[in-house]
Amino acid sequence: MDTLNPLAVVTGASSGIGYELAKQFAAHGFDLIIAAEDDALDVAAAALTAQGGRAQAVRTDLTTREGVEKLLRAVTATRRPVAAAALNAGVGRGGPFLETDLADELEIIDLNVTSTVHLAKGLLPGMVEDGEGRVLITSSIASTMPGSFQAVYNASKSFLQSFAQALQNELKDTGVTVTSLMPGPTETEFFERAGMLDTKVGRSEKDDPAQVAAQGFEAMMAGRDKVVAGSWKTRAQGLAGRVLPDSVKAHVHRGMAAPASGTDG
Ligand SMILES: NC(=O)c1ccc[n+]([C@@H]2O[C@H](COP(=O)([O-])OP(=O)(O)OC[C@H]3O[C@@H](n4cnc5c(N)ncnc54)[C@H](OP(=O)(O)O)[C@@H]3O)[C@@H](O)[C@H]2O)c1
Repeated sequence: MDTLNPLAVVTGASSGIGYELAKQFAAHGFDLIIAAEDDALDVAAAALTAQGGRAQAVRTDLTTREGVEKLLRAVTATRRPVAAAALNAGVGRGGPFLETDLADELEIIDLNVTSTVHLAKGLLPGMVEDGEGRVLITSSIASTMPGSFQAVYNASKSFLQSFAQALQNELKDTGVTVTSLMPGPTETEFFERAGMLDTKVGRSEKDDPAQVAAQGFEAMMAGRDKVVAGSWKTRAQGLAGRVLPDSVKAHVHRGMAAPASGTDG
């Protein structure tokens, strides 16, 4: 990729919100390094290229430190400044905490939390040195509520929310901005992967990932600290989350995420 286009890194770009973010970057003239684990990433890279973008795929398991280092090495190997990074890869796991697998819960922390911190540590110094850069961290509206029956996932997003806001403030005089993207329930592979298709939220009508990504991209480019992205319903949920007590939000979350909450029986 030997061009004068700005370079963006997008994790979790093989599907859902990450793929739509990658499309946004490509449509706005960025070259891309996209990362995910499975071979669907190569399909995504080919589709982005067919749409006129330039995408280099790095298949890597971001739950491991070596996997994160592999992505950072690929970025360094371009010898190009990173203009923007969307740290978006993430997974969830629904179910009663006493019954979920510990390995699944630790995977959430390794991917959502640890890899995001590791990548930020690797990418931000170069951006600050260049005096410019845009970072978008995919948090969630879930970051604002205790996640009964999704306890570790919501906590991981609360971590990201706090982390993004803290970095945004720390870096305020550097030319680098850090934006938190807060989607509500969005039509992606997330709920199937999280084993939540029998829940009320899993069965509910969801937001369009393309709309979420477009709003996230716009907020990131504007250097905003955060954006609740998606439909008016999600944005109303975001407003309600500001005033309701945690105990009420946990109860509401129980109604949406408890196993079989979406079935008739
Ligand atoms: N969908 C929602 O309702 C919603 C709401 C709020 C926030 N979010 C957040 O949005 C982000 C994107 O999720 P999505 O909804 O778009 O779901 P998705 O379609 O399942 O996308 C998840 C992405 O993360 C990648 N990924 C998963 N495990 C990985 C690993 N070990 N190493 C590298 N990449 C990995 C996946 O690639 P592989 O398939 O190759 O593993 C995929 O590209 C996540 O952070 C999620 O928490 C989603």
